[in-house]
Amino acid sequence: MISRPSRREFLSTGAAAFGCGIGFDRASAQAELAPTPACEPGAAATLRQTEGPFYKPRSPLRSSLREPGMARTPVDLSGFVVSRTCTPVPRAIVDLWHADEKGEYDNSGFRLRGHQFTDADGRYSFRTIVPASYDFRTRHFHVKVAAPYRPVLTTQLYFPNEAKNARDSLFRSELLMRITKAGDLVRARFDFVLDIP
Ligand SMILES: [Fe+2]
Repeated sequence: MISRPSRREFLSTGAAAFGCGIGFDRASAQAELAPTPACEPGAAATLRQTEGPFYKPRSPLRSSLREPGMARTPVDLSGFVVSRTCTPVPRAIVDLWHADEKGEYDNSGFRLRGHQFTDADGRYSFRTIVPASYDFRTRHFHVKVAAPYRPVLTTQLYFPNEAKNARDSLFRSELLMRITKAGDLVRARFDFVLDIP
């Protein structure tokens, strides 16, 4: 099970830089993932991308961003945070934010924004909805990931088989999530490789 990080650990993860709030959601421990991260030793670190104009610090500490009335396909996003040697990184912070079903960001509150810490196996899991694309942007998630005492990785995650992928200059195939479907639920998998040994 995931234990709540101490204040020292919390601050060391870069949470202070994110301005994250205090609290903890044990639902993140419920991820159903294969035990071995999809990583080969010597793997390249996950590609960095711009954070864009809509990042907000101090997101809530929670694993479920879904709220009643969200008329959009539910998606469970999960995976591992590992080092370049594929070593799982426990207590890494994973901060997620994305557009809603209309392609809009909540810039006054924290709808569809939240962060959590990886468990002892480096695992994270979010419950949210499939975002809409907007303007020139194809469908995507924004995320910041940081191991304790380490710099923040800021990047974006993409959905496969999206018509707008080819027209979005920011799109990179290295950042495609692996998607499977279970009834109405979309399961998305992405393992972050941090640039640490
Ligand atoms: Fe965006």
